[in-house]
Amino acid sequence: MAASNDYEPVRAAIKKILKNDKHDDGSIGPVLVRLAWHASGTYDQNTGTGGSNGATMRFQVEAADAANNGLNLARQFLEPIKHEFNWISYADLWTLAGVTAIEAMGGPQIAWQPGRVDDADDRHVPPNGRLPDASQGQDHIRAVFYRMGFDDQEIVALSGAHNLGRCHGYGFEGPWVPNPVRFSNTYFKLLLRQHWKQRTTSAGNVQYNTSDGELMMLPTVPPHVETYAADRDVFFRHFALAFAKLLELGVHRGRDGTARRNDLARARL
Ligand code: HEM
Repeated sequence: MAASNDYEPVRAAIKKILKNDKHDDGSIGPVLVRLAWHASGTYDQNTGTGGSNGATMRFQVEAADAANNGLNLARQFLEPIKHEFNWISYADLWTLAGVTAIEAMGGPQIAWQPGRVDDADDRHVPPNGRLPDASQGQDHIRAVFYRMGFDDQEIVALSGAHNLGRCHGYGFEGPWVPNPVRFSNTYFKLLLRQHWKQRTTSAGNVQYNTSDGELMMLPTVPPHVETYAADRDVFFRHFALAFAKLLELGVHRGRDGTARRNDLARARL
């Protein structure tokens, strides 16, 4: 099949496979969103490496990163669509599947552009360990998102994706919200129901903990959480912007719309 510019049939095909009674809560949407995010979230703005261009998670080293546990399923779910529309790159398909799933689950429309190109070999696979590790604290989470080029407000907006899906026992277990296949601001509302206490860590940082000490929030987080809990539309707007930015990290398009490798693009600048 020749290359095409018509992504509507691809979106329609993605929507068709979302409902899946055998998977989790009846939808594969959440795991597709996580695939789009993990494919993109390896970006390092200082070196221009990582990011969604290249679809480097197809290669063993990145696929085997512990942070990507379970994402082989998401990639397999999309395989029939890749066969049907073989002109689309995996990098475009994975990111398009993420935005399509969010929209189909009641979330905002998210700007998405095609043009990513799959790498032919694993030379550009980013090192493991670039994605956030839920067992580590605020300094780690911040460092990871700052490395991608996000600020605190964007971090909170993005983490609202945890309105979707669940943990599968790789260290954590269960969903964040009662309806994990509907995109909403419930996650923030539930966060606010916790009783947060401010405390200073041994390193001298201020953070917030629940009274039982189990959950933690960054000091800059509560105002954003309050905004997003109170106003779904603001959350949707901020989320859509931050998620679109995430999918574009490191994707430099030439005049024909085709993305070049980050480091090549940089060398040519
Ligand atoms: C703030 C740092 C983050 C941490 C520490 C984190 C951690 C996790 C963990 C531990 C899981 C469970 C994985 C599993 O057991 O299958 C998960 C699931 C998920 N995460 Fe995150 N995450 C973060 C940020 C994000 C962001 C930025 C997004 C998207 C914008 C996102 C979207 C998701 C989705 C949709 C799921 C559910 C997947 C499913 O149901 O299969 N997460 N996350």
